[in-house]
Amino acid sequence: MCDGSHKGNTFTAMNYTADVMHDKWFCACKHSGTKPMCDGSHKKL
Ligand code: FES
Repeated sequence: MCDGSHKGNTFTAMNYTADVMHDKWFCACKHSGTKPMCDGSHKKL
C-alpha cells in the first residue's frame, strides 16, 4: 500500500486491481520487467 514515501524522488505509485483472488508476488526490488509483479529479476542483482 502506498504511504506517500515516494514523494520527492523519481519513483511513482502504480495502481493495481486484482482480477481474481489468488496469491500474487509484487516486486520490491524495482527491477522487474513486468511491474508491479515480480518476474524473478531480483535473483540477478
Ligand atoms: S522483487 Fe523485483 S523482480 Fe522479484
